[in-house]
Formats: sequence, C-alpha cells, structure tokens
Amino acid sequence: MTGHLLVVGAINIDLVVPVQSLPGPGETVVGDALQRHGGGKGGNSAVAAVRAGAKVRYVGAVGDDQLGAGALTDLRADGVEASDVALKPKVATGCALIVVDAKGENQIAVAAGANMRLTVEDVETALGRSEGWTSTALVSTEITPDAVVAAVKGARARGWLCVLNPAPVIPEILETLDLAPIVTPNRGELRDIYRLLGGEGDPDAKDAAAFVARHTGAAVVVTLGSEGVLVCDAEGQCTTIPARPAARVVDTTGAGDTFNGVFAARLAAGDGLLEAARRGVTAASLSVEAAGARTSMPMETEIEAAFAAQ
Ligand code: RIB
Ligand code: NA
Repeated sequence: MTGHLLVVGAINIDLVVPVQSLPGPGETVVGDALQRHGGGKGGNSAVAAVRAGAKVRYVGAVGDDQLGAGALTDLRADGVEASDVALKPKVATGCALIVVDAKGENQIAVAAGANMRLTVEDVETALGRSEGWTSTALVSTEITPDAVVAAVKGARARGWLCVLNPAPVIPEILETLDLAPIVTPNRGELRDIYRLLGGEGDPDAKDAAAFVARHTGAAVVVTLGSEGVLVCDAEGQCTTIPARPAARVVDTTGAGDTFNGVFAARLAAGDGLLEAARRGVTAASLSVEAAGARTSMPMETEIEAAFAAQ
C-alpha cells in the first residue's frame, strides 16, 4: 500500500568540503573539491520518503533566488510535490556549510535564511490543502518555532498521525510533545529533551527515553547511528533494532533524515512502529555509503533487498 505523507521542515543547499579530519577551533584544514548537494532535514526526509514508495508533499520556504529555484527543481526531480513551498522575497535560501571527514563524520553550520520566514499561516494553509489527502505528517525543527508548533497542533487537530523529528531541540517543542504521538531524537537531542522535561543526571538512552515517554505519552524512537534505533512505546516498553552494517561509511550526513523519511513513509502505509523502524534503519545504513545527504538514499526495492539479505 502506498502511504501519503506531508513533510514540514527546512530545505537547504549543502556546500560540502571532504577533509581528512574535522578542523578544531581556529584550525584551517584543506580538503578536496567542493561538492554541492540538496539538503535540509525537511527536504532530505521528503526525498527519502518518496524513494521508499510514499506520495509526498513538502511544506517549507525558499528565497526568491536561484538557489531556491534549484532546490525546488531537485525536489521535483525526485517526485516530491512542492506546490506548498512559500517563496520569500529579500531573503536567501537556506544554505549549510558542511565538512565531512575520512570516517564519514561531519560538522554542519546552517544559514537558515528563508527557513526562518515560514509562517504559521503558510503552515495552516498547506495543512488545510492536504485535508482528505493525507493522515500522516513528519515535522522537523530547523524552521520558525511557531511554524513547528502550528504544524504539530494542526496535524493533531485534524486527527493525523504526527512524527516530530526534534533536530535541533528547541524549547517550543515542549508545547507539542504531549500531542506528537511519535518523537525521533538522536542521543544528544534525547538528553536535551530529558533535561527540558526536568530530568536530572545523565541516564542511558533507554532510561531517558522511557522517562520522556512517561512524561509526554509519546512513543520515543531514538536514532543511535551505527548502533541502530531504540523504539520505546508510549508505555515506556523499549526494543532495540540493530543497524545493518554499512559496506563502507562515506558520508553520514542525512542518515537521520533518511531514517525519519522512510519510517514516516512506512507508518503512512500502515506499518506498525517496529516494522516501520526496521525499514528506516536499513535505509539509513544504505544512505551513508555515498557522498551527500540524498545521493545514496535507497529506493523501496533496494531497501527490501538489503532488508531480506540481513
Ligand atoms: O541532516 C542533514 C542536514 O542538516 C543537511 O542536509 C543540512 O542541510 C542540515 O540541514
Ligand atoms: Na550519504
């Protein structure tokens, strides 16, 4: 079954320098030729979801500039529906400066630009237009905090399933955590949410996730990189899904976005939490095997083949 998914989040152009090792503060490192890729957690997860077989509408904002036009062309080339993207005058399209080392680890600084001009009204209009078309939304937080809150509240008010990818954690998500049925932090984001909710000390991922689940009523799905994901349901019952070992790790940029896109696509198609998370983990492990966030995001058939071969 094909799922329909609405993705709300940021879109960027990623400028990437491959280096031997990441620079420290004040250090200059010299790397290989500059790469340019489509990026942003919203755009990336929309592409991951479409390749995993979902019909996807993306909601976000770009500047009225060449980078913005290019970003939309890229999305559409992948089959993502982008007519709900707001064009913002007098602001640049989001741009991420990324360095990737020989182990595939990265450092990222984002010039948010138009992503921080996405308004509550933009989101509300887009959600209204998707009534009857979708019942699942994926929301990430590199956009205006008010837009994040409006997206989660609007999705829930319409009775949709909503996955919140709290990347990065912003305090405003506290208003939405008990509404979003599923939250997908990485280890650092989980710790930030745990602390925002008043948790003390530094518990392991399982205890922190169970705490967040108990305090919010949300299922907590923690992405743990090469260790896979930890799925804790709303009752705090946790299951670890190990990662499929990647053949080679070239670039981990966007691995979390791949997980989120595929996970949400599978939920939209009717999979349960664990089943959807298993496909997401397999897709994320395939996505790190080539440069760029989106280049090696797998198609549905590749996910199924890799999954069957495990
Ligand atoms: O998650 C990876 C993404 O983070 C990159 O594509 C970059 O644009 C930043 O948003
Ligand atoms: Na990659």
